[in-house]
Amino acid sequence: MSRIVYVNGDWLPEAEAKVSVFDRGFLMADGVYEVTSVLGGRLMDYDGHYARLVRSLKELDMDCPLGRDDLLAIHREIVAKNGIDEGMVYLQVTRGNPGDRDFVFPDPAATPPTVVLFTQSKPGLAESPAAKTGIRVISIPDIRWGRRDIKTVQLLYPSMGKMLAKKAGCDDAWMIEDGLVTEGTSNNAYIVTGGRIVTRDLSSDILHGITRAAVLRFAREAQMEVEERPFTLAEAQAADEAFITSASTFVMPVVEIDGQAVGAGTPGPVATRLREIYIEESRRAAI
Ligand code: PDD
Repeated sequence: MSRIVYVNGDWLPEAEAKVSVFDRGFLMADGVYEVTSVLGGRLMDYDGHYARLVRSLKELDMDCPLGRDDLLAIHREIVAKNGIDEGMVYLQVTRGNPGDRDFVFPDPAATPPTVVLFTQSKPGLAESPAAKTGIRVISIPDIRWGRRDIKTVQLLYPSMGKMLAKKAGCDDAWMIEDGLVTEGTSNNAYIVTGGRIVTRDLSSDILHGITRAAVLRFAREAQMEVEERPFTLAEAQAADEAFITSASTFVMPVVEIDGQAVGAGTPGPVATRLREIYIEESRRAAI
């Protein structure tokens, strides 16, 4: 089924939606994005995604072209137009089309940003079979730039990481810098060790996951102990459990790292419980 997508105020069949070859998103990866999940036709963690969008743009000297309520209305409309019950809304904002290639940023008064939204239908998102078996990851060096807290569309290395994982017969890659795990290619990384949930503290080394914030809040409310600090690959391999979080996977158990089983090699109780709580609570709070 052809989707209806949003491009700069217009609603178009996907085949008719066009962005200029001079768009800075295309030429320079000069843009940011957000992925917001939809369950039961409603948006999960919308306000967190909106706040991070505004922050990402600000860090790149761009103003957010749409207010919280206007962008929410567009999200709701795209969900309705495409009949999405379970799936995702992808949003991208770039520095627009200055009409030529130039490293210098264009004057925003003369070059409006490009705003694109599309949907991805994922029936069964909440009941993902992978959550029952867990996923297997490999480790790769983290050679990304130093501002990973900005959700830019520079996704070549994460994409290469996924391909390396696929070639190794695995599902994803955890990235390692100075001997410590930073994050997954498109998710935040956690272990459970010594009765505590351990995940890297927030800095420009990792993306500040919206799912991470919600999951840590729910974990603390459920009296689970949380420690925000970096951990090594060896500590992860020796941990009782490991898992990832993201808007598209929620909480997903990791059962193997570089060929070594984590804990019993099956999804652990902490990850399983957190997944249930996250889906239940976020579904209830979805708008
Ligand atoms: N990825 N770290 C990285 C590098 C990411 O790309 C993502 C999200 C996350 C998790 O953030 P959140 O919980 O806000 O989704 C962490 C999205 C889902 C993607 O690229 O599809």
